[in-house]
Order: sequence, then C-alpha cells, then structure tokens
Amino acid sequence: MDRVVRLGLLGCGTVGGGVATILAREADDITARTGAKLEIARVAVRDTTKDRGLGLPPEAFTSDPSEVVEANDVDVIVEVMGGRDRAGDLIRRALELGKPVVTANKELVAHEGPELYAAARAAGVDLAYEAAVAGAIPIIKPMKESLAGDHIDRVVGILNGTTNYILTRMSEEGAAYEDVLSDAQALGYAEADPTADVGGGDAAAKCAILASLAFDTSVYADDVFTAGIDSVTEVDIRVADRLGYVIKLLGIASVVDGRVAVRVHPAFLPKTHPLASVRGSFNAIFVQARAAGELMFYGPGAGAEPTGSAVVGDVIDVARNLMQTARGAAESQHRPMPIRPIEDLSTQYYVLLDVEDEAGVLAQVATVFGDHDVSIAQVWQEGHGDSAQLVLITHRAREGDLRATVDSLGATPCVRSVASVLRVEAEVFDS
Ligand code: NAP
Ligand code: HSE
Repeated sequence: MDRVVRLGLLGCGTVGGGVATILAREADDITARTGAKLEIARVAVRDTTKDRGLGLPPEAFTSDPSEVVEANDVDVIVEVMGGRDRAGDLIRRALELGKPVVTANKELVAHEGPELYAAARAAGVDLAYEAAVAGAIPIIKPMKESLAGDHIDRVVGILNGTTNYILTRMSEEGAAYEDVLSDAQALGYAEADPTADVGGGDAAAKCAILASLAFDTSVYADDVFTAGIDSVTEVDIRVADRLGYVIKLLGIASVVDGRVAVRVHPAFLPKTHPLASVRGSFNAIFVQARAAGELMFYGPGAGAEPTGSAVVGDVIDVARNLMQTARGAAESQHRPMPIRPIEDLSTQYYVLLDVEDEAGVLAQVATVFGDHDVSIAQVWQEGHGDSAQLVLITHRAREGDLRATVDSLGATPCVRSVASVLRVEAEVFDS
C-alpha cells in the first residue's frame, strides 16, 4: 500500500487524543478499509511542549493552527479544538484550499452549518461532522443517507452525556449536583466550559443539527428553546420517581402546522419510554419516520474514544472520496420553515410551590390556575409549616397559559416562591 492520506489535527485534547489512539491501534484494518494509510502529519495545540505520545517529531507540532491548514503536506483537516470564530475561519480556509474537513464542533455547525455546507459545496470537497452529535452514535449518516428516502416526523433525543450522567447519579445514588459535575469533567465528558452542558446549549446545538437534517431546512442553535438541568432539585427527582417518571434532558424536534417546533429542556419522562433507560454518559436518539417507523440509535455520547470513533469513521469516508475525487452526500435545505414559538407548545406540567401552611391556600392556588385556563390533574402537599410545598401536575395546557399562571402565582401572597416548573412528556410528546 503506497498511497498515504496525511492528516492535520487542529487540537489534540480529549477527542484528538482519542483519534490518535484509534488511528494507531487499528492502523492495519483502517488502511485496508480506506485503501490508503492515514497518517497524522501535523498537529496544532496550545502547549507544544506537552508529550502527546504520538511518536511525531517536534516540528510536527505548532501552536498556530493556520500553519497546519496551509501546510502542503496535509491533505485532510481534522478540527477537534472547539470554539467558534477561529475554528470557523480555519475550516473555511481549508475548504477554500480544497482540503476536506472533519469536525466534532457542534457549536460551530449549529451556528454556521448552512454557510459551511455551501463553502464545502463550492469547493467540491467534504465537510463531515458525525462526531458533532451524540459522540459515537452514527446518526448524521443514517439521517443523511440511510433515511434519505423516508419522511421524518419527529426526533427526540438524550443528546448530552454530561447531563445524563449527572441526572442518572443524582436519581440513582442521591449524589450532589456539584460532585457529579466534577466527575463528568474528570471523565472527559464535559465541554471546556461545562455551562454549555448543564445549561442545555450543547444539546440545543445538536438538536438544531438534527432538526435541519430531519426536515430539510436550516435550524440554528438560537432557534432552539433551551433550558438546562442546573435548577433540577432532589425534590423534583423524588416526585418524578413517585409518579412513575424519570427526569431527562430531552431534545425534541417536530413539525407542527408547517413550523419547526424545537426545544431542549429537562422533562418528566415515563419510566416505560425507551429513552428512560438511557443511563450515565450514554445518549440515544429516537426517530419517528413515516415508512421506517420508530428507530432508536443508542450508544456512548461523549468521551475520547467514543467520539474519536465517529471522527475516524468520517476521516476514512472523506479520504476515500478524496482519492476518487468524489464527494459524500450533501445536506438538503430546500424547505425554508418558520420556527414555532415555545408559547404555542401544548404539554403537561409539574409545578412545585413553596407555600404558607394555612387554610385556603389550595383554593387560592387552584383559582390562579383556573383563571389562566390551566386544568389541574393532581395536587398534594409535601412538608409542613415553613417547609410546606404544593406539588401540582396539570392536564395538557398551552405553554403561554402556563407561563402566565406562574407569573400570577409569583404575585399570590400565600405562595412564597415558585420552586420548580418542568414539562411532563407523555408518550406522544408535543402537539
Ligand atoms: P479539549 O480536550 O479541550 O481539546 C482541545 C484541543 O485543542 C487541545 O489539544 C488544545 O490544546 C487545542 N486548542 C484549543 N484551542 C487552540 C488554539 N487556539 N490553538 C491551538 N490549539 C488549540 O476539547 P475536546 O473535549 O477534545 O473537544 C474538542 C471538540 O470536540 C469540541 O468542539 C467539542 O465540542 C467536541 N466534542 C467533544 C466531545 C467530548 O466528549 N469531549 C464529544 C463530541 C464533540 P492544548 O492541549 O495544548 O490545550
Ligand atoms: N460535552 C458533550 C456531552 C460532549 O457531554 O455530551 C459530547 O458532545
């Protein structure tokens, strides 16, 4: 085998390290499958003095990623450094130079995907991003290629490993939020700034990418209604469990009345739903397609080698195409669609109120719900005296009405505070 495809790595941290490990360990099979040897030629990192264990000469390392992009001895760019502006400029430049790009950068793809796809199309080279969504799980390729003949109605996913890991340990072990977050960081699941994980932004980016592919349109990260898990408490988890639910950070995308409804937030999910059994840093994506029916894609959602596996798969794909001067399947965005405001969502809600422990409180609270057309399905009191709380589960209600209810509850004297509001997803999700 004398053909060599030379790779330029932009970044060699958690994911880049996983990529290097896999390329070295599986070298023979990868060479046979690709029809060429894949060789890391150059690497950009911030700290060029650190030993990365790649067996490369010191001159292969640089702290200037554009040197890697411009290098004549680099055929394919692997962007695993993260961030937006710098990574975006580097990718655009690589495409301009006719170099295929593989990236794990969901933040960038979710904010600038359509522009980057257009740049790749104009240059006639591949831009592949399987690792940007759900770590090791093959989902981009199945949606772009395997399901290309079908019609996707809905995508529901657990799209963030860090938050699923945190919620699992909080509910199964009663572990404290801060402790499990630092474990998730130590295990390489979390983003450099974990706010993107716990605040829901990372899952929102992935949900935007999936919604775009599912509905042949352009959905950007900022189109996704986003709420994180940072306010989920032990009481919420306990109530959910008692009622037969688990709390999961869900990404949900569908088309309702010609508008894309796309949202990421923690929700009560029935324990009987297939996504409820997804534990730890695992992710899963539940796709409802008109002809195929219900499909579930499941696997490790984060970490060095799981994510590295998706990156290397893409590298093999683009390397094969490069050698045949071909291109992989392109994204279709033929259908401009408006985004449905979250206020139009109709679902059930769980509301937890800190209340005065006195006669008439329940009647006052019920009146506020009734005034806003929100019907109560269940209500009970937890605790007494200063720690009295009311737990309410509503029937299906419009989000706009629920929000107005919560605002009014905040101004109701017997309500000391609105402690939690979470959506309760029945089997059918939203309408
Ligand atoms: P990471 O561990 O922080 O690694 C980032 C790498 O990029 C490091 O090697 C760093 O150099 C290098 N780097 C960053 N900025 C640079 C700059 N301006 N110039 C030169 N080198 C630079 O991050 P990661 O977890 O591997 O994530 C990388 C990307 O993959 C992100 O887009 C992330 O969202 C995505 N991703 C991560 C996972 C995961 O499980 N971690 C999963 C899917 C996707 P130093 O090593 O010298 O600091
Ligand atoms: N921080 C991300 C997560 C990495 O926890 O899911 C995988 O994209």
